[in-house]
Amino acid sequence: MRAMEDWNDEQCDDTLTMTTVSQHFFGDDSETPSFSISIIENMKEDYGLFVWPCSVVLAEYIWQHKHRFSGATVVELGAGTSLPGLVAAKLGARVTLTDDSTRLEVLDNMRRVCDLNKLECNVLGLTWGVWDSSIFSLQPTIILGADVLYDSKAFDNLFATVTFLLRNSPGSTFITSYHNRSGHHLIEFLMGKWGLKCLKLLDGFSFLPPDKASLLSGNIQLAEIGLISKDNA
Ligand SMILES: C[S@@+](CC[C@H](N)C(=O)[O-])C[C@H]1O[C@@H](n2cnc3c(N)ncnc32)[C@H](O)[C@@H]1O
Repeated sequence: MRAMEDWNDEQCDDTLTMTTVSQHFFGDDSETPSFSISIIENMKEDYGLFVWPCSVVLAEYIWQHKHRFSGATVVELGAGTSLPGLVAAKLGARVTLTDDSTRLEVLDNMRRVCDLNKLECNVLGLTWGVWDSSIFSLQPTIILGADVLYDSKAFDNLFATVTFLLRNSPGSTFITSYHNRSGHHLIEFLMGKWGLKCLKLLDGFSFLPPDKASLLSGNIQLAEIGLISKDNA
């Protein structure tokens, strides 16, 4: 059986900074994947230069809901190495990959992975809770965020940005995967505070194929979140 991550051991020029390329396969039959995405990772550098398990879960969910992504307009928040956004682009979505605007090496790496996979995505610095002019033109039908709920001090800024994007694009949905470390309560509280509701909540392992699940651990959940009602928009 073909493994989900096939570490190429392909050390790029800079061995000292431990840059590697991992490959991630997507298909209904793991023996004959439909496509793969190559990701440049750097184990030493930064949170945003590593493929976190939540992004493997979210990318698989996107693959399994491919009909929703063809022709969709997608913004990925805190995209880091960008696996979910790249899968969405491969499925025919117009994708904007974003990360903290001060993390230039993360944004540079996003451009490199787009080139490596021959995918044209917009790459944008977008810091949660910061209202640069570029955010006002974003009207995503789907907002993605893998492992962006890990630092509770940043939750309010993240929810502020998500709520703005949901309101700017009526009918849109935020799909996020996260480690459920201390129950869903804080996220529930923040959803209430920001006028959001959970449309779907899944155990991340409930839909992962066995070859991918066997490489991950933890309690990963996937939630689809939307505005409570048009009155709140
Ligand atoms: C745990 S990493 C997850 C990266 C990627 N989504 C994944 O799952 O592999 C969190 C990401 O959020 C980004 N991030 C952290 N704080 C941020 C902020 N205030 N605004 C925008 N992005 C932020 C980091 O740069 C990093 O790429």
